Amino acid sequence: MRASDQRSSTPEHSACAPRVAWYSRMSADDARQRFYDATRRHLLAPLPGGIEVRAATPDEWSHHTDAWWNAEARGPIDLGPAYSDEMRAGLADLDACLAPGLRHHVVLWNGDEPIGSYHGEQEPWGRYYMVNTILAPAWRSRGLYRAMLGNVERAVAAAGFREMYSRHRADNNAVIVPKLKAGWLISAFEVTLKYGLLVHLKKYLVDELVRLHGYRVDGGDAPALRAAGLRVP
Ligand SMILES: CC(C)(COP(=O)(O)OP(=O)(O)OC[C@H]1O[C@@H](n2cnc3c(N)ncnc32)[C@H](O)[C@@H]1OP(=O)(O)O)[C@@H](O)C(=O)NCCC(=O)NCCS
Repeated sequence: MRASDQRSSTPEHSACAPRVAWYSRMSADDARQRFYDATRRHLLAPLPGGIEVRAATPDEWSHHTDAWWNAEARGPIDLGPAYSDEMRAGLADLDACLAPGLRHHVVLWNGDEPIGSYHGEQEPWGRYYMVNTILAPAWRSRGLYRAMLGNVERAVAAAGFREMYSRHRADNNAVIVPKLKAGWLISAFEVTLKYGLLVHLKKYLVDELVRLHGYRVDGGDAPALRAAGLRVP
């Protein structure tokens, strides 16, 4: 990854805490470098048809992405009018206390033409959140998302995360179906103020966690889980 790519895939305040945990075998700097290496090797790999995936700054990413989302038929409800200016400022100050973690902002290019974008980021507890993917309408239904999803999964697994997570409108089959085909699992439903009913999907990157999900749904796979050392009832 070029130095500029590294800067653009992470926030300015990306310095991790110097000590991770007593059982840590790698420094926070090593973990960050592993994230960059995995990003370069997997996420920035070209997609079918010679589509390039390039790292972007958050501003560059928004510049392309906002126009595509604004053109979508069903936008979110803007919650802004519910807050006073004072509340809005206070909320921004609160958010400033949260140090952003590792994150991906990328734009997909067909030559000089931007055709899509993706944003995902680190959450605590080894979880990675796939926040947002959009393709320009003319580039949909050509298998680009299927291919990019595989690359995101490989990048996230190689970076050391244990699970991936996403939230989608419950009727957005264009994104839910490819994820279910790729082994993602339904983990929750949520009523959100901005988007309405969302379905939560998860992809576990550890075999025992996949089995445990099934066990939590219907009690299956208990012997295999016990054999793996998990103390399930
Ligand atoms: C969601 C989105 C990124 C999918 O990208 P895409 O490149 O069109 O998807 P693909 O062509 O890779 O399709 C992958 C699979 O899903 C299936 N699929 C696509 N749309 C579908 C639909 N509406 N219903 C059912 N299956 C669908 C395809 O048949 C394909 O199956 P296959 O792998 O067996 O061939 C794209 O539709 C988009 O930009 N939508 C608007 C933005 C959005 O809603 N983003 C997701 C929320 S973050």
